[in-house]
Amino acid sequence: MDDQLPVVAIDGPAGSGKSTVARNVARRLGYTFLDTGALYRAVALLAQRRNVSWENGEQLGEMLSQVELSIEPAETGCAVFADGDDVSEELRSEEISRGASKVSRHPQVRQALLDLQRSFVTRGPLVAEGRDMATVVFPQAALKIYLDASVDVRAQRRYQQMLGSGQPADLEEIRRAAQVRDQQDSTRAVAPLACADDATLVDTSDLNIDQVVDKIVALARARITSGR
Ligand code: DC
Repeated sequence: MDDQLPVVAIDGPAGSGKSTVARNVARRLGYTFLDTGALYRAVALLAQRRNVSWENGEQLGEMLSQVELSIEPAETGCAVFADGDDVSEELRSEEISRGASKVSRHPQVRQALLDLQRSFVTRGPLVAEGRDMATVVFPQAALKIYLDASVDVRAQRRYQQMLGSGQPADLEEIRRAAQVRDQQDSTRAVAPLACADDATLVDTSDLNIDQVVDKIVALARARITSGR
């Protein structure tokens, strides 16, 4: 128990509400927020810019040994920098979502990002979201949450989000892409998306964001007594 980290680890598939929930939980608790998906997205973007294939783990690992990636909490989530250049604006396209899912399969990529993610604990209590926060990156997290929702609900959320931001959207297409990404993320050999044995499973299909945030904040306050 003594070696627990003051970390709220939140994992789950795309569209489970993870990002919004994690950001709000961090804000409510006054904890630092870490969006690890942004790092995998940055790797996909850099590879695209440098003509490195998303399929080539070896070359991706080499690329990462030559570039300095960093991530900083920002107003709207996390900002990612590659050799000091802020690449955050370019990380949210469907293409980069696809690339991030592909590059995240490679052990060379996962290994290269591990220390960077873990070093965040030096900033104090943390809310970290991704796919392997509870299982690999912060197995000693004081609170582990696995957020889930049915694929229909997740596709519908993404669809509304895209329409809301004025992007063209096709619900069936989004649903199919979500299924492909789930399949890739949960069947890969290294650090697959999975609910840790000691995680609390929260199905968000019939809950709104505030309900989910309230629940996690209450659990965190009960578990984490790190002087806040
Ligand atoms: O959470 P997101 O949609 O921004 O993540 C993008 C991709 O990165 C996702 O398809 C899987 C991968 N990822 C991962 O493998 N491990 C993490 N901790 C976070 C994201």
